[in-house]
Amino acid sequence: MKVTLNTLKKLKGKEKITAITAYDALFGGIFDGEVDIILVGDSLSMSFGGNSDTLPLSLQDMLYHAKAVRRAVKSSFLIADMPFGTYNTIDEALHNATFLYKKSGVDALKLEVNESKIPIIKELVNNGFAIMSHIGLMPQFFRFDGGYKIKGKNNDEKQKLLDLALKLQDCGVFSLLIEATKSDIATEITKKLEIPTIGIGSGNGTDGQILVWSDAFGFYDEFSPKFVRKYLNGKDLLKEAINKYANDVKSSNFPNKDESY
Ligand code: KIV
Repeated sequence: MKVTLNTLKKLKGKEKITAITAYDALFGGIFDGEVDIILVGDSLSMSFGGNSDTLPLSLQDMLYHAKAVRRAVKSSFLIADMPFGTYNTIDEALHNATFLYKKSGVDALKLEVNESKIPIIKELVNNGFAIMSHIGLMPQFFRFDGGYKIKGKNNDEKQKLLDLALKLQDCGVFSLLIEATKSDIATEITKKLEIPTIGIGSGNGTDGQILVWSDAFGFYDEFSPKFVRKYLNGKDLLKEAINKYANDVKSSNFPNKDESY
């Protein structure tokens, strides 16, 4: 059954929401229907693009990946990230969001949001975009922040996060993603909001959880934050398989008679 925005709203307080990233049709198709939400995250800039942060990803890059995932995802709710620098002003945000939304056919867009971006979010929602806001640690601020810094560490930060979350709900976003934020404040935000929260590295009190698939399945080990649980040793398994294949070719063991015409 197709997961819709209403399905997600109804899950709040009843059942945890499951989410994972995907960047292509192959893995989008494997994950489809297994989780409620699939996100074409700009983390693809690192795990698939080989960059050291999410900033180099362009709107065209995102469109290419979002279209590929869209072709395979029929049942899970599909969200795409707006890349860094594509929503600095209201006009730019409306223009680029329209381009990505129309051409990719995703169900919703996700934007990293601080206080100054609230008018942009309001305008997008008023123009009919389904928007998830990303708060807490925002990877697009990596260079500005001088690294990945846990958020909500003191009372001032906690209060600011709560205020921001409430304002975003008032703007009409359908959900919040809360990244690398102290569990107590992520839980408090979740309790105070009517819309669902999805956490990553923000404890167990949010309405749902998301992981970057290449982290969760052990394919990307250049950076491994403590909140990632590895569900597969993907890299090791794949290395073993590619070695077997290479050895079989070198030793003329592949192809055999049954594998030949
Ligand atoms: O880009 C991404 O993968 C994200 C994660 C926090 C899920 O936004």
